[in-house]
Amino acid sequence: MNGKKRILTGERPTGRLHIGHYAGSLENRIKLQHQYETFIIIADVQALTTHFEKPEILQKAVYDVALDNLAAGIDPEVSTLFIQSQIPQIAELTIFYSMLITVNALRHNPTIKTEASQYGYKDLTYGFLGYPVSQAADITFCKADLVPVGEDQVPHIEVARKLVRRFNSLYKPILKEPEALLGDCPRVVGLDGNAKMGKSLNNAIYLSDSEEDVSSKVKSAVTDPARITLKDKGNPEICAVCAYHKIFNKEESHNIEEMCKNAGIGCTACKKNLAAVLNQFLEPIRDRRIYYETKQNYVKNILMTGTEKVRECAKQTIEEVREAMSIRYF
Ligand code: TRP
Repeated sequence: MNGKKRILTGERPTGRLHIGHYAGSLENRIKLQHQYETFIIIADVQALTTHFEKPEILQKAVYDVALDNLAAGIDPEVSTLFIQSQIPQIAELTIFYSMLITVNALRHNPTIKTEASQYGYKDLTYGFLGYPVSQAADITFCKADLVPVGEDQVPHIEVARKLVRRFNSLYKPILKEPEALLGDCPRVVGLDGNAKMGKSLNNAIYLSDSEEDVSSKVKSAVTDPARITLKDKGNPEICAVCAYHKIFNKEESHNIEEMCKNAGIGCTACKKNLAAVLNQFLEPIRDRRIYYETKQNYVKNILMTGTEKVRECAKQTIEEVREAMSIRYF
């Protein structure tokens, strides 16, 4: 032990990561990795809750997510990346925890509700309804102190906290109650103005997008629809481009908003400026991606070593859990 507190965070690999992921959690995680012992889970089993019909997408998506993390600035010498399905103790813990929470509590989880309606699910699978339970196992098998996440994940951390309290009071106080660590970034809207940026919505700027992609995507971004000519005054509140300036161009954003309101800058110029800002921000990320991609088997080795390391931790916790529950026969 090095005395540092431990954080556990991660994502489900359903595709490449975008600038919404960056602002919502990656940026925070990259800073925190030097301060805390950092574990990053690539939650492939959780990805199956929505992508069970196409499990073959996981293979590539796991590597894409790992590479996106590394390219964004996660240092493999400092942080530990691992794959959820390769830690069977997480599945075992999930089963034990599943006795300690009611179906109703999960049904009322606001993030489950929102996602169910996003995916158009009327009837939920057992796995989808229960993924917060499996996420509690992700967080607690390594006794994480803190979980840096975006706001939408807070209800899941709450589930983990409740499960830990229940387990500790019923059996033995061996588990750690985790705390959510929220970044200060607002949700990043989609290029189409939708409240959420996402792959399924086809409105995202990816960390792996080329310069040309970024420029053409920004050109297509939704602005105030009432602003037709240069002389019309704009409303930055309903403009995706202004929303991105606010997050990725902090110094200039106030000025830009004022100019927009006074018809001092046109949407085309404003978009050009944004594309340049985003491309500048993505440049070191692109460079690091090339670095990792060209080193053969490097990412695979990082994932293998990381998974091995956390497996030791998982083995230890599951021993304590079984002992606490008196599940010992031989
Ligand atoms: N539910 C998270 C998401 O969709 C991913 C995730 C899985 C996670 N396990 C986790 C996040 C544990 C934090 C901690 O983004």
